Amino acid sequence: MSEEIAVVAGDGIGREVVPPAVDVLDALDRGFEFVEADAGDAVLEATGDPLPEETYDLVASADATLFGSVGESAADVILPLREAVDSFVNVRPAKAYPGVDALRPETDLVFLRENSEGVYKGIESKLTADVSTLTRVVTTSASERLAEYACDYAPEGFTVAHKANVMRETDGRFLDAVEGVADERGVETERALMDALAMHLCLRPEEYDVVVCPNLAGDVLSDLAAGLVGGLGLLPSANVGPERGVFEPVHGTAPDIAGEGVANPCAAILSAAMLLDFLGYGADADRVRDAVEAVLEDGPRTPDLGGDAGTDDVAAAVLDEL
Ligand code: NAI
Ligand code: MG
Repeated sequence: MSEEIAVVAGDGIGREVVPPAVDVLDALDRGFEFVEADAGDAVLEATGDPLPEETYDLVASADATLFGSVGESAADVILPLREAVDSFVNVRPAKAYPGVDALRPETDLVFLRENSEGVYKGIESKLTADVSTLTRVVTTSASERLAEYACDYAPEGFTVAHKANVMRETDGRFLDAVEGVADERGVETERALMDALAMHLCLRPEEYDVVVCPNLAGDVLSDLAAGLVGGLGLLPSANVGPERGVFEPVHGTAPDIAGEGVANPCAAILSAAMLLDFLGYGADADRVRDAVEAVLEDGPRTPDLGGDAGTDDVAAAVLDEL
């Protein structure tokens, strides 16, 4: 069995961090077939379309996709690609590593972010010269699907972020649906108002393990957690669908350092580990994570972590550890 893996590096440092992640997957000798495709600002400029149909079709049919990052066209690329794999949950672990100077070294949590609706549904209108509106969509079905995933992921229980005291109808529906599924499955949950949760995460991140969030809240809270653990260069993510997934670092194209060869490849390599988990190669995924952890602890490290190594040095060290 040889899985087909779509590789979409994108723009900026996406092009620098994705090749090391592919090298790591290749080094595992699982016979993966890698197929490269374009998306992002550069293709937009060349062809007028940031997401060529071939790329969409490839992602929709490949077993899994390794994605880098794209620039200003991000919304026009990532949202359709999440939809191409029918992704209903964005899994975002935030973990502090020994050897990395973290604001909160005790942080080790995972956000399960609703990935298909909420305020990112794209329903915005300009009503008058003075007024613009946004429609927030929350469905029981999407909330329950997320909750089922959360119950499998965290049978020991999870926190549910919400703001149902203000958004009574939409977050009320979200909360009812998630808690309903958890009750039925016998999984314990605790509620957390998302604004207060932001503060608690800063002060006592060790009190949280798995946090289930509506779309926007998950986006913001997971970036906040990135700040607690030492920056965006370390955070992987998985856009999970029922049969396929898109795996990508949380960071963007980092125009301030793109082209200098100093981008931290760890987030992309850890995203490849999540891809391995998804495809059922859990032991390989653990090996990759162990290799990254060893390199983070002993170096070499890229400048974002206070080191002076390049992307290639870190990538080579991870391969050595493997
Ligand atoms: P960014 O994540 O690209 O950069 C934020 C800061 O973190 C910068 O100082 C950057 O140098 C640093 N950084 C990020 N990743 C790093 C890494 N691997 N190693 C070392 N340092 C790293 O976010 P920003 O600046 O807000 O956005 C830049 C562009 O990226 C925009 O055009 C935005 O639309 C796009 N973007 C794309 C995303 C995606 O493709 N999923 C996600 C976020 C932003
Ligand atoms: Mg974000």
